[in-house]
Amino acid sequence: MNNTHSTAHWEQSVPSTLDVEHNKIAISDEQQAQLILRIKQLLKEQNAVLVAHYYTDPILQQLADETGGCVSDSLEMARFGKQSPAEKIIVAGVRFMGETAKILSPEKTVVVPELEANCSLDLGCSPEEFIPFCDAHPDRTVVVYANTSAQVKARADWVVTSGIATKVIEHLAKRGEKILWAPDRHLGKYIQSVTNADMLLWQGSCIVHDEFKADALLALKNKYPDALTLVHPESSYTVVEMADVVGSTTQLINAVKTMPNKTFIVATDNRIFYKMQQVAPDKQLIEAPTGGVGASCTMCAHCSWMAMNTLQGILKVLEQNINHIHVEEATRLKAYASTQRLLDFAASQ
Ligand code: 13P
Ligand code: SF4
Repeated sequence: MNNTHSTAHWEQSVPSTLDVEHNKIAISDEQQAQLILRIKQLLKEQNAVLVAHYYTDPILQQLADETGGCVSDSLEMARFGKQSPAEKIIVAGVRFMGETAKILSPEKTVVVPELEANCSLDLGCSPEEFIPFCDAHPDRTVVVYANTSAQVKARADWVVTSGIATKVIEHLAKRGEKILWAPDRHLGKYIQSVTNADMLLWQGSCIVHDEFKADALLALKNKYPDALTLVHPESSYTVVEMADVVGSTTQLINAVKTMPNKTFIVATDNRIFYKMQQVAPDKQLIEAPTGGVGASCTMCAHCSWMAMNTLQGILKVLEQNINHIHVEEATRLKAYASTQRLLDFAASQ
């Protein structure tokens, strides 16, 4: 029960991770230390807090940790920003994460280091296409992944993140509800396989996780027979099927920490290795392959949009008071209802 939607119009303009990294201005260790010092000072002066995703540069993750901010998955980022007493939230991640913070905390100033940092799932599910699709299926409960625009969230009954999606769908299926799921077709298929729910799937995907290859992964698993394979559910279903653990970024980090194995093959953005190594320094982490027979990678296990977040970008938004996230109030109120439903459900678990 699938539908297809065109995504080609934005795909041409996505930068490769290599290009983004290459274009970064190289600075000395001393310059970096000075930048960090200045940012710390401005964070204090402006009562601001840095909220970073696990996929951002380790230097930003370290800065968020050291300054009382948070480094987490998208569910915790949303929660943290709302609960924090800070007046300004700097969201180092991608656009939808900034919008989610603003939806939940309209009274706070929410800024992002780079307004162009987007997400293929968000871009591949425009409100212009999505809203009529929902209108055509009025008998279905609309559940959208957090990786969507505020307008798409506003049309949804529920917003979910990968950390809690399966539980929410299980809950709805038990009540006999039929689901319209968007935008990630792989995550949708995975949830469908676990819950057996009646789900109509939007056909979006993550261009980073799409690059993990099942044939090359099988070869790697054979080479490391004792390794546990950890997979983020945005990966294709053939890769997910080969996993020992499927979960959100936080759930994968917890697996490295708690499982007795010494070696892990990890199919998600490789900047997560920083946190994994921090919580389990004695474990060996191996990147799942993004190349295989005849394949070459553009993202190469690191999201180019996440890579756009830099120390210089953070300093710029603090010094120049720019890159504010705005969400139109009528849209925000509707998006708030579907997002708050997620937080209430998570609190009840
Ligand atoms: P998590 O909620 O698991 O952090 O995922 C967000 C994301 O964008 C993964 O690609
Ligand atoms: Fe979006 Fe994929 Fe990047 Fe996550 S990794 S922000 S899902 S493009």
